[in-house]
Amino acid sequence: MPDRFPSVQAALRANDRLRPSGHIYLALGMALLIGVLVASYMQASIGIETMHRHEATASRAEDIQKLEMLMQDAHSITRAYALTHDAGYMRTLGESLAAINGMRGKVAAELASDPEADTPELLPKAATALDDLKAIADRIQAGEPVGSERIEQNAALMRAYRLESNRVQSTLLELNVERVRQSIGQFQIARIATVFLALAALLLLLIAIVQKQKKQELLEQLDALLRAENQKLEHQVQLRTQELTQLATYLTSLQEREKHNLARELHDELGALLTAAKLDADWIERKLPPESREAMATRLARLRQNLVSGITLKRRITNGLRPALLHDLGLVQALNALVEEFRLGGDVDVILDLPEQALELSEDKSLSLFRIVQEALTNIRKYARARQAHVGLYPEGGSIRLRIDDDGIGFDPDSPKVARHGLAGIKHRVFTHGGQLDIRTAPGQGVQILVTLPA
Ligand SMILES: Nc1ncnc2c1ncn2[C@@H]1O[C@H](COP(=O)(O)OP(=O)(O)O)[C@@H](O)[C@H]1O
Ligand SMILES: [Mg+2]
Repeated sequence: MPDRFPSVQAALRANDRLRPSGHIYLALGMALLIGVLVASYMQASIGIETMHRHEATASRAEDIQKLEMLMQDAHSITRAYALTHDAGYMRTLGESLAAINGMRGKVAAELASDPEADTPELLPKAATALDDLKAIADRIQAGEPVGSERIEQNAALMRAYRLESNRVQSTLLELNVERVRQSIGQFQIARIATVFLALAALLLLLIAIVQKQKKQELLEQLDALLRAENQKLEHQVQLRTQELTQLATYLTSLQEREKHNLARELHDELGALLTAAKLDADWIERKLPPESREAMATRLARLRQNLVSGITLKRRITNGLRPALLHDLGLVQALNALVEEFRLGGDVDVILDLPEQALELSEDKSLSLFRIVQEALTNIRKYARARQAHVGLYPEGGSIRLRIDDDGIGFDPDSPKVARHGLAGIKHRVFTHGGQLDIRTAPGQGVQILVTLPA
């Protein structure tokens, strides 16, 4: 855009400045959104992980406690067996020991899978107490006496085992509590991060909305400015067109006036001179003695012939300049004469289609239509290389239609030609009378000129 529109340029520059920052906000907003998603995913993961670990540790502690109770039961059964020697206790003890073995295996597997459970002593202590218990049971079964101090011995081993078991259970529970505390801490950090990121995203959204609004305002401003500039330009173009139209009108009427003056002078002055010279030549011929008339005859005849040619030439030029017939007999007769003369000057076959009666047309419009036909016929002669042309005049209600066409070489109406004064003159004349002009042509397609003037 040229420097003539500083306000428009400033608005465009402001708009350009807004564009990149808009992209940055968008990119940041996306990054934040992804951050929010990651943070909430982490939150959920931490929660699930903590729950899993909590559950696993709790079930481990429970199994250790179950084993402890089973061991306690076995000790009590052995104690009762030692007192009563009842074989039923021996069976119950067998079942109890089988249950203990199963539970020991389970606890061993659980402890092995938990690297944080520091319990190297628990299972060996259980094994010691259990082996001791089995030894007592074997002695009873073999019928050997088992004293209460021997049972107390086993009770001491059992206590040591129980102490270790309780220690391990409370360690596991403490571990769980610690894990929950840690995960609560992580959870809180993740929560703060989520809230922070969400707030930031909201802020960016607000900024983006404000920016968009600003941009919209700028665009509206730009639009208004462009419209104003456009109006200014249109106004200027209108003024220039008006000036040019006035100038063209002035030049056309000046040309017509000059033609008129020249025609009058030719007719009045030159016409009078030539006619007088011809009369003189006739007089001289009559007055000459018969003997010299013979000798002068050829020269005199040539003189008279030249004078007649001069008078005809003068009439032709005058007619071209100011068609006397147009003034005296109207457009139809003037066009008839014009076409008649055109036919004499070449071998283009012109078909005339004129109304029978004279037309009710102002002198201005008649002259314009005459000049249009004159220019069109001149062009046909100069450029068309046509075999046939057609000139038609059709009065139609409130308007009059003129059509001139030829079957010649035509031309490209869109080709940028430097000078098309003839066609421009036709256009101007039609425009002056508020009429319509349609020139249809293409290379090889002839030319068709259609004029409609309000009558
Ligand atoms: N009847 C026609 N057939 C072919 N070409 C034509 C015809 N009338 C006009 N033209 C083309 O259009 C151009 C413009 O014509 P015109 O405006 O009368 O200007 P000028 O006669 O001064 O060249 C001509 O130079 C010619 O190439
Ligand atoms: Mg021309």
